[in-house]
Amino acid sequence: MDKLKITANGHLNGEIVISGAKNAALPLMCAALLTKERLHLTNVPMLRDVKTTQKLLQGMGARVMTDNVHEFEFDCSRINNTCAPYELVKTMRASILVLGPTLSHFGEAQVSLPGGCAIGSRPVDQHLKGLEAMGAEILIEHGYVKARAKRLKGARIVMDMVTVTGTENLLMAATLADGITVLENAATEPEVTDLADCLVKMGADIQGIGTRTLTIRGVEKLHGCSHSVVPDRIEAGTFLCAVAMAGGKVVLRRAAPKTMQVVLDKLTEAGAIIEAGDDWIAIDMQNRPKAVDIRTLPYPAFPTDMQAQFMAMNAIAEGSSKIVETIFENRFMHVPELNRMGADISAEGNTAIVKGVEKLSGATVMATDLRASACLVLAGLVAQGETIVERIYHLDRGYENIEQKLGNVGARIERIS
Ligand code: UD1
Repeated sequence: MDKLKITANGHLNGEIVISGAKNAALPLMCAALLTKERLHLTNVPMLRDVKTTQKLLQGMGARVMTDNVHEFEFDCSRINNTCAPYELVKTMRASILVLGPTLSHFGEAQVSLPGGCAIGSRPVDQHLKGLEAMGAEILIEHGYVKARAKRLKGARIVMDMVTVTGTENLLMAATLADGITVLENAATEPEVTDLADCLVKMGADIQGIGTRTLTIRGVEKLHGCSHSVVPDRIEAGTFLCAVAMAGGKVVLRRAAPKTMQVVLDKLTEAGAIIEAGDDWIAIDMQNRPKAVDIRTLPYPAFPTDMQAQFMAMNAIAEGSSKIVETIFENRFMHVPELNRMGADISAEGNTAIVKGVEKLSGATVMATDLRASACLVLAGLVAQGETIVERIYHLDRGYENIEQKLGNVGARIERIS
């Protein structure tokens, strides 16, 4: 299994090009199931989760054309299997995103239940509750969700909590339903908005995009379109944290600063000088970061997917900070690993108290989820001596060429097989 070897190498300087967002690309690929025409996507990040989704769609009978450099075309005109099998779903929870579009377009779908994962139990009850409200018959059998509906019907659905993939699943399902669906307490994450924008290009009728209430008037059919995936705000935020920790001056190109205001504000509070244009962000950091308090919440507040990276920064910051994780119940697995590198962090329940230390020391570490792995890479960039981050297949699920992108701005980081 591949590992990353990281040795501190001073300031980071130069430019990094940001990839398309994983969390937008996955639902967009699943949206191809809603039409018999071709869906053309550009700026698709080359990630393990994208490959898994490609396999999932191909297993259902989709044709996938790709140049393997960020451009894909999907042809779902000959879907002959409406099942998402356990073997793929267990490697990627986002596979549940095929449920809504497949059921809505083909009248049936079977998707393996994702089960728990490292960061929490992550149920899909809201996805199922919404589809049932739209008239689907749902049966849980042999570990699978089996859903049927001749044609879904519009309904008013109030989600119990803000769920990103839950909103996306119901939004896709509603585009082909009979009548009007109102999704209340919907997620407003930029990736949901990106999906909604693409669905509108495909002929869907959606009002309230970017707000907590989405109103969807179902149409008879959707058509193909071309769409560019929104830039990855979490990848961009991760690199900004890297610079905030190691110091230096870096410009991120093809970024979407408007989607990450709260992260930019927190970095400014930590002492970074941030400038941004429409599609670029510049960071200049010459001092030790100052500790910042964090509370994760749904968009537009601070994203849970940036919590671990900010904890790495706070670990070496001047002062103490409090980090409260309100989205997932078990998202502090990076705490013991950071402490093994010399951090002073205590976590109880959903709260961590981080006392900034002057220095971390390199160690062999590993994490069991994507963003926790990223946080250990960041810690390695400033730790004394050598850091080995193991199990980096988690990183490969969500970061395209992380070692190359960080290497280009001066980090000493190497993949070892
Ligand atoms: C998505 C993102 C993930 C991010 C998360 C929160 C994708 C592919 N993944 O995950 O990177 O960390 O949003 O921003 O976009 N919940 C329920 N029942 C449900 C659905 C959710 O109880 O039916 C709970 C979850 O357990 C969690 C919270 O709601 O505590 C939010 O989860 P959700 O927004 O659904 O996360 P994902 O969509 O899985």
